[in-house]
Amino acid sequence: MNTAGPHQYAVFGNPVAHSRSPAIHACFAAQTGQHLVYAKQLVALGGFAEAVAGFMAAGGYGVNVTVPFKLEAFALAGQLSARAAAAGAVNTLSWENGLIIGDNTDGIGLVRDLTNNAGATLKGKRILLLGAGGAAQGAVLPLLDTQPAQLVIANRTEAKAQAMAARFSSNLLNVHALDALDDNFDIVINATAASLQDAVPEVPAHVFCRQTLAYDMMYGAVPTAFMRLTAGYGASVRDGLGMLVEQAAEAFFVWRGVRPATAEVLATIRRTIATDAA
Ligand code: ATR
Repeated sequence: MNTAGPHQYAVFGNPVAHSRSPAIHACFAAQTGQHLVYAKQLVALGGFAEAVAGFMAAGGYGVNVTVPFKLEAFALAGQLSARAAAAGAVNTLSWENGLIIGDNTDGIGLVRDLTNNAGATLKGKRILLLGAGGAAQGAVLPLLDTQPAQLVIANRTEAKAQAMAARFSSNLLNVHALDALDDNFDIVINATAASLQDAVPEVPAHVFCRQTLAYDMMYGAVPTAFMRLTAGYGASVRDGLGMLVEQAAEAFFVWRGVRPATAEVLATIRRTIATDAA
């Protein structure tokens, strides 16, 4: 049992080598003076529950969960936050007297990046959410909480969008077919996995105008295909690196009760990504 040294945290994933979370949390710990270390741990497929049990037994304090274990973390948790229950997925685990507590900080991370870092107002705005996988589902409740005029979900497979929307009871929420989107939006969020294949969901060009903020949850050293395309339509564009930093800040707050400042950390991580790619 580790009692004297720094408190141990880790991100569990497969793959996990690319994860920026250790660097982000190291920045937060240095900034706030919290005595902790944060590692990345490659977890075997099928070995997630065992890995969490091992980390707990070794005296660890908390775990972030990334691809492909967010659903397993959801199933493993004995207690869920409201936002994790709504997301149907867990990215932050902690425990108390052996009870595993699951939280999800991804959606609030998105909202904080949009509002605090990009300076966007969401209240009263028309928001389009593209996708109906885990990333999209995690965003729905935090976006609805900002009281937009409307939140429209559109997905390549419309039935999946319908099923996702049915989990939420809100008269602000609508589902449209991608090719039936007939007006522009203030904010368009790409929560599809299309950017992983350097592809873009087939959204009509008139969805974007000069007032649109086009947000891709993905990020990289260069703008994603979605950002390149929508910048060409005149939209303002933003990638998801700020969401990554903000979800980490919220996880840090869940674990430590201290809220780190994020602006400098975001700039640092962006520089690291650029340097690594050079
Ligand atoms: P995640 O948990 O990361 O959201 P997922 O559950 O596999 O991943 O969901 C991927 C999402 O990206 C889905 O909405 C998927 O659309 P379908 O439901 O039609 O499969 C969407 N997606 C993936 N590749 C896409 C592409 N090339 N164009 C449009 N949508 C795409």
